[in-house]
Parts: sequence; structure tokens; C-alpha cells
Amino acid sequence: MRTKIAIIGAGPAGMFLAHLLAREGIDAVVLERRDREYVEGRVRAGVLEQVAVDLMDRLGLGARLQREGLVHGGTNLSLDGELFHIDMAALTGGRTVTVYGQQEVMHDLFDAADERGVQIIWNADEVAIEGASTDTPVVTWRSDGEQHELRCDFVVGCDGQHGVSRKTIPANVQREFERVYPFGWLGILAEVPPVEDELIYANHERGFALASMRSETRSRYYIQCDIDEKVENWSDERFWDELCLRLGEEVGARVTRGPSFEKSIAPLRSYVAEPMRWNRLFLAGDAAHIVPPTGAKGMNLAVSDVAILAEAFSEYYGEGSSAGIDHYSARALARVWKAVRFSWWFTSITHRYPDMDGFDRRIQMAEIDYIRGSIPAQRTLAENYVGLPLE
Ligand code: APR
Ligand code: PHB
Repeated sequence: MRTKIAIIGAGPAGMFLAHLLAREGIDAVVLERRDREYVEGRVRAGVLEQVAVDLMDRLGLGARLQREGLVHGGTNLSLDGELFHIDMAALTGGRTVTVYGQQEVMHDLFDAADERGVQIIWNADEVAIEGASTDTPVVTWRSDGEQHELRCDFVVGCDGQHGVSRKTIPANVQREFERVYPFGWLGILAEVPPVEDELIYANHERGFALASMRSETRSRYYIQCDIDEKVENWSDERFWDELCLRLGEEVGARVTRGPSFEKSIAPLRSYVAEPMRWNRLFLAGDAAHIVPPTGAKGMNLAVSDVAILAEAFSEYYGEGSSAGIDHYSARALARVWKAVRFSWWFTSITHRYPDMDGFDRRIQMAEIDYIRGSIPAQRTLAENYVGLPLE
């Protein structure tokens, strides 16, 4: 088999890239280790920046998102139960975010892939990349007990944090940067109306809490927990009690409780691998970087990486220019690091750290109080939250 671009991984990075290339008429094949049900079933984040919404529209995939997505022009911060609103749209010249679950995004991308003949090979085992430093890379895999190979011009690793692509790059050309946070997030989904129209990021003496949603009838709530906490220790009742405590008396009293149908714990980590290109192998999305979920940048970064990369491939095949692909890593990393910084900062002002003393806590309280009282500080938060422009 032969194609121009071999894409490894059918998550948001791989599927947005596949659609962008299809629109440019550039041949590509996506190789995915799991099946569609698995990829679509994973519960992940749910906040899209304008860049991602615009991209869905440009790809002609925005109809359901426009109908069902919840446009949020603001967000809320809470300190020990006292809530204040940040009017992000007013502070950023009308920019907003849209609440639309990653599962819905994947559903739309997969349905359209079927209709448009975007080629996805599911259940591809033992994917390996050969000759990425030559002009003739080959991707090999096994499926149905047979060995297959795909010759291509370029390989794009969209295979997430645990994929093969990043590991194919020799250790001596790659630098890794990492911050592991000493806590996790325990999250639930429940078929109950959200407590507020917009999200609440809460800093409480007992730890962070987040009130989010998937729709007007489905809530997504999180509480910060110990890194080695077990889901089994958290009955729904215990979760609701702790959440309401951290959201404070007034908001807590308004929370609608109900049985959870998903409950899981995720660790928090910041990670960046540089560069995002090695010869004919490119990395995009979680394969190259991870952010803690505070600020909801994970999927949005995957989208901006592949928007930059698709533009570069279009220049390469359309105009015969390598300038775009040569600048990909630097251009993508400039945006990635700003999102890494924002998620790290937003985590640092909202979470309880195990080694925190009274001084640290009062610094956090002063910072949140400063944001409450300062329009420039709110604007800084807002412009990062709605997403920095693609430069
Ligand atoms: N071979 C083929 N496919 C692989 C391999 C492999 N060796 N390893 C992983 N994959 C697939 C995974 O099964 C998954 O479907 O690559 C895909 C990677 O998808 P994501 O992990 O979602 O990564 P990405 O597309 O970069 O999206 C990043 O989406 O999942 C969220 O938290 C994530 O918000 C972040 C964003
Ligand atoms: C979510 O709804 O899952 C969500 C929202 C905002 C975040 C993180 C997660 O910052």
C-alpha cells in the first residue's frame, strides 16, 4: 500500500488531520490500534476553543455542534464558597468557548470519515515506523494475523502519550520536560442539570472542585483527590457531599444530585517533548505534550497542532515549499508552551498542595482576590482560557 501521509492514531489529532488533508486532496491513511467504539467511548474533556469550533465549521462538520453545543461567554471562580463571574466575551472582544464533549466531536469526525472516504484502518496491532530518517518511510502493522506495510512520504504520530511514534525518535535528539502534580481529579458524569449556566473553578481549603457539564441535562463534576485514591472509596453520596462542601454553602445547596454513570480518577501532569519533528516523522497532540485538565487545553492543543501541520503539508504539495514543514515544530511549540504555562498556573492557584503552609495558602487567596478586583488580571485569564490566536 502507498499513501502520502501515514497518520498513527485516530484520536482528535489524527482525525482532524485526516479531514484537513482530505479537504486539500492530499492522500492519507489513519492506523488505529483500537476500534471505533473504544475511541468514541472514552470520556474526556468537553470545552472547545473558538479555533476548534471554526475548524469544525470549515470542515463542514459544525451542524450538530452549532445545534447542541453550549456557548459560554464567561466562567466562574470560587474561593472558599464565594463565587465571582469572569465575562470572557466582554474581555476578549467577543470570544467564547463551546461545551461539546470530545465523544461528540469524535462521533462527528468518524461519521464524516465514512461518508467522505477518509481511510481508517482499525485494530492495527504492533504498528512500527521504519526509515523515518530516509526519503522513503514505511509503517508496518499486523491485523487479522497478517503483516502489512504502508509506504509514504511522511508519518504523523497522533498516537497519544503511550504510542510508538515518540519512542521512534532517538533519545539523543529529543528533550523532555515534565511536571508531575501531587494529586489527581476524581470525576463523575450524572444525568442531572448543571448547578450553573457556566463552569465553576473552585479553590477550597479542602481542595479544588470543578462544576462542568455536557448539556443542559448532564453534569460533569470533579474534585481534587489524593494521587493514590481509589474510586471504590467514593460512593456517589460521599462524592456529592464533598463536592457541595467545596462549592460552598450557597452553590452547594443548589446542586442537583443523582446517580453517577461514570466515575474515574485521572492523574495530573505537564509534559513536553521537543522537537515535534524528526526528519519525516512529525508528532501532534498528546504524543508530544500533556497538560493538566485545568483550563481544558488538551484537545484544543491537538487541534491547533494539526491545523498548523495541515497548512504545512498543503504548502509542500501545492507549492513545493518546505518552509511550513520546517517551521512546524517551532510554531506548534510556541503555542503549546503558552498553554502549558496557563494550565500549570491555573492549577497552581486553584489546588491544595500537600506541602502547602499558611503562607502559600494566603498567596493563593490573595491572587484570586486580585483577579476578582482587577480587569487586566481577568483579561489575562480570559484571553488564555478562550485560546490564544493561531500565529
Ligand atoms: N498504534 C496505533 N494507534 C495507537 C497506538 C499505536 N501504537 N498507540 C495509541 N494509539 C491510538 C490510541 O488508541 C488513540 O485512539 O492513538 C490515539 C491517540 O488519541 P488521544 O490519546 O486522544 O490523543 P490525541 O489525538 O493527541 O488527542 C489529545 O484528546 O484524548 C484527549 O486527553 C486527550 O485532550 C487530549 C486530546
Ligand atoms: C470537562 O467538562 O470535562 C472539563 C471542563 C473544563 C476543564 C476540564 C474538564 O478545565
